[in-house]
Amino acid sequence: MEIQTGTRLLWNRPAPLFMSAMCIMRFRRSSISLSPSVNLHPLFNPSRHRISALPDGPNRIPNQIFAAAGSAGKSKKLGLGERSKRVMELEGKVLVQTSARVPLVLARGKGCKVYDAEGQEYLDMGAGIAANLLGHGDPDFLKAIQQATESIHVSNVYYTSPQVKLQELLRGCSFADRAFFFNSGTEANEAAIEFARKFHIFSWPYVKLPAMEFIAFNDSFHGRTMGSLVLTGKENYRSPFEPDMPGVTFIEYGNIDMAKNAIQPGKTAAVFVEPVRGEGGIYSAKKEFLQALRSACDDAGALLIFNEVPSGMGRLGYLWAYEAYGVFPDIMTIAESLAGGLPIGAVLTTEWVAAAIGVGDHGSTFAGCGCPLVCHAALAVLDKIQKPEFLASVSKKGQYLKELLVHKLGGNPHVKEVRGLGLLVEIELDVSASALVDACRNSGLLILTSGKGNVVMLTPSLVISEQELVQATDILLEGMPALDGNTSN
Ligand SMILES: Cc1ncc(COP(=O)(O)O)c(C=O)c1O
Repeated sequence: MEIQTGTRLLWNRPAPLFMSAMCIMRFRRSSISLSPSVNLHPLFNPSRHRISALPDGPNRIPNQIFAAAGSAGKSKKLGLGERSKRVMELEGKVLVQTSARVPLVLARGKGCKVYDAEGQEYLDMGAGIAANLLGHGDPDFLKAIQQATESIHVSNVYYTSPQVKLQELLRGCSFADRAFFFNSGTEANEAAIEFARKFHIFSWPYVKLPAMEFIAFNDSFHGRTMGSLVLTGKENYRSPFEPDMPGVTFIEYGNIDMAKNAIQPGKTAAVFVEPVRGEGGIYSAKKEFLQALRSACDDAGALLIFNEVPSGMGRLGYLWAYEAYGVFPDIMTIAESLAGGLPIGAVLTTEWVAAAIGVGDHGSTFAGCGCPLVCHAALAVLDKIQKPEFLASVSKKGQYLKELLVHKLGGNPHVKEVRGLGLLVEIELDVSASALVDACRNSGLLILTSGKGNVVMLTPSLVISEQELVQATDILLEGMPALDGNTSN
């Protein structure tokens, strides 16, 4: 159990009904155990579903699952059409080749379904890498965007109402007093780096060299622009651009002693941490770890920065991951899910930190202006997902998804672990997942990989139905034989 549910809310909103903690379901050949959290809603206490070392194994999964699950139907095989091939060929000639794409040209979407250039339908369990929170074509989302056609872009020289309204809404549902908007997560992290340094310069005007260094964690991910990259603990992302910029110390994620030693007064400007890590494998911090970071930062006068790019905006069944821990950051960065798939990033922070940032300290053509189009979209998304009943539905569906995966894939020897919280779920395999990704795509299911390519990551739109979760797990089950004979890891 990783996340505690001792939620401390700054505003008066009931905690989600089905708050469940990060449940890790470990698979060994003959035993499947599911580590429950504390304080679970009785209806969704996974201990009811424990199937560890029982001879009748999966039969212990509750009836509700069988009722909805049905039997894995043989899905039709899809293929690449001429129209798609033409787009792919042209792409190969005209774009800088940085993306390892799968052979699929997407043309449109509806709900959680997407359609290729030939009109073939796919159930999308990636949702634009966790961005399309409301799926495609949500009527409120579309209405909000249409409203924005009155004014698509206004520079940051002028005031606009949607930007102010969005900050007002964020303020009402988070720890933050103020926000600054960008176009992406990596830009938000860049700004957080600058804000942290500026905070120390501002706070210690007579100190020649105030705290300027950062603590980050092994295997962390903060984005692909230079500053964010420098804080990214994955060497394969940094090494093409070496030498690294100085001033960052990487320590083991979760290691309290190392963190306490590393965070030093007068030296550490900020600690950058993902409360729940997405890229490279979903792992959640322990509550004691984040608490230790908080108190070490307080003692050293350093800022605590939470990167909630993948974990914020309701994906975990909490509006923000920090709620699950009751540990509050000084700065939080979020990104594209805020506007349901339109480009946005945001730094949320306290009055205390914001006081250090002056006019002219940051900006770009789009950053800071809070483009009305994107802000209208974000207002529609946030308005919908912050409702307790919506968050409760995310928890419930996430739990259901994990139970379906246990039931259907738990007996497969390639499956090492199913883990996740809310609708951020992954399946760790003992081999590369690429053959499974291909098999699923050919059967009309889109899934993503993470980690070292051996992890299937499921981040569907938060509006996905239980029936679609059943469909997804049926196709996954059907695709599992593709992994047999694959020994690459
Ligand atoms: C934890 C984390 N930080 C930062 C980013 C970068 O966000 P963006 O791709 O919007 O630049 C990502 C993107 O996946 C992420 O997962």
